[in-house]
Amino acid sequence: MLYYRYRLYKIYTFNVVLRKEIFMSKISMTYYSGGGNTEEMANIILESAKAAGAEIEMVEASEADATEMLAADVIVMGSSACGEEEIDGDYIEPLMEAFDGAISGKKVALFGAYGWGGGEFMETWVSRIEDMGATVIGHVAGEEGPGEVEDELKELGTTIANA
Ligand SMILES: Cc1cc2nc3c(=O)[nH]c(=O)nc-3n(C[C@H](O)[C@H](O)[C@H](O)COP(=O)(O)O)c2cc1C
Repeated sequence: MLYYRYRLYKIYTFNVVLRKEIFMSKISMTYYSGGGNTEEMANIILESAKAAGAEIEMVEASEADATEMLAADVIVMGSSACGEEEIDGDYIEPLMEAFDGAISGKKVALFGAYGWGGGEFMETWVSRIEDMGATVIGHVAGEEGPGEVEDELKELGTTIANA
């Protein structure tokens, strides 16, 4: 009896490992947040993706490496609205420039906080990614943080985990 239990346990763990190694996408996530609103959004996505079984690595944009991110199947990026309806120019924009010509065929998810622009920066960002030949699997813009879009952020986490 104990032996059969042991066999079942081995089969179960083997399948879990196999599923993760073979079927689950590699996900890379980064964000820029000047005041913490986009960071709050990032943490909701992260927790939701993890709850859905994803193994996901998240780093702040200042620590992100474009080449490492491009090794993932799913690229998740967050930025607050900066400048005049722009993404962050110091860390996210250089990543975007590095991705141009290399991100084609990847799945991308975008998120970020805005103040007064109604999330216009996000629409521009989505278009830029699509013009680079990548597929935007989801995007969420939130007024000053997660507030009214908390459920959308959780859903995005699940989408990423299953992409
Ligand atoms: C320098 C600066 C520029 C900004 N430009 C915009 C903008 O163009 N459109 C907008 O909706 N919000 C703009 N905002 C507001 C922020 O995007 C908003 O407060 C956001 O919630 C900040 O998120 P964070 O805490 O992740 O940095 C700007 C804020 C700053 C400080």
